[in-house]
Amino acid sequence: MEGIEEDEPPGKTPFFRAKNLERALKLKNLYIKFEGAGLTGTQKDRISKLHVLKAREKGYDTVSLATCGNYGASISYFANLYGMKSVVAVPQYYSGERNEEIRANGAEIIEMPAKYEDLVEYMRDQSRDNAWYDSSPGSENSEMDIEGYETIAYEIVSQLGHAPGYVSVPLGNGTTLAGIYSGFERMQRRGVIRRVPRFIGSSTPNGNPIVASWKRKSRTIIELEPQSIRETKVSEPLVAYRSYDGQKALNALYRSNGIATYIADDEMYRYSTLIEHFEMLSVLPASAASLAAVDRVINRKSEPRDIVVVLTGRNKIWTTQ
Ligand SMILES: Cc1ncc(COP(=O)(O)O)c(C=O)c1O
Repeated sequence: MEGIEEDEPPGKTPFFRAKNLERALKLKNLYIKFEGAGLTGTQKDRISKLHVLKAREKGYDTVSLATCGNYGASISYFANLYGMKSVVAVPQYYSGERNEEIRANGAEIIEMPAKYEDLVEYMRDQSRDNAWYDSSPGSENSEMDIEGYETIAYEIVSQLGHAPGYVSVPLGNGTTLAGIYSGFERMQRRGVIRRVPRFIGSSTPNGNPIVASWKRKSRTIIELEPQSIRETKVSEPLVAYRSYDGQKALNALYRSNGIATYIADDEMYRYSTLIEHFEMLSVLPASAASLAAVDRVINRKSEPRDIVVVLTGRNKIWTTQ
């Protein structure tokens, strides 16, 4: 694809004050960081490009992963762009909304009747056996995920001019929240900002170890029973029995004096329609969990502080050409 240099970051995503939502929800100083504007429509672009280029640099010809769909669309896009092959495993009973796009990017898709986490482990073994670069969360290459998502924090501070009071992020594996937190922590250590924002983490009551551990007041992440989780089309990106960066995300919540909450599917959907109505952005319902959480936990009577809602994905407006 023209116009993308290999040493360029994927590009800053939009950041703006959501004045219409402020009025509708009676909130003050509400800002949106729209990760859905990335090339393949989610925050995953922040890490996919890094992984694909690292894989190529290390001499691999294939990048592999397990995914609910969004990460697979992103990795396969960048693999295609940089002349690499990709192998993408997707749970068979997921909606598979992005499978066509993943195939159009030239990836081999493996669909298996297994849970997401089981596919992550399966692809870990396959990667070892076939000399593929493993880009799934929790791999030996996963430090790059944190690095990739730190850039969201840097952009927020440069776009807002200072650190906000709160940052709200949806939770699946916890990687995105942990990475953004790490970015703020680095800026604090360097004296760029005085205080790290309070983090608001949100996920699905259909199953997420980070919110579950938080609710039990545990400082250590507790895995859930695989048969206890229930994937739905809306909650697919967030539901998990194991969150690969769950401990890091939980630490970030405690260290930032943050809070975690469950948002049900119908609420995710409702807030995505509010965002569409008031700010004219079409977002994935799962990514609207971050706004729903803000509406639920922010105390309107306390001193207003800047609140940044990270919307992680746009609704499907991609084409496969
Ligand atoms: C759109 C979207 N939002 C949020 C998440 C959760 O991110 P993480 O797994 O880094 O916690 C995902 C994960 O797949 C996602 O696709």
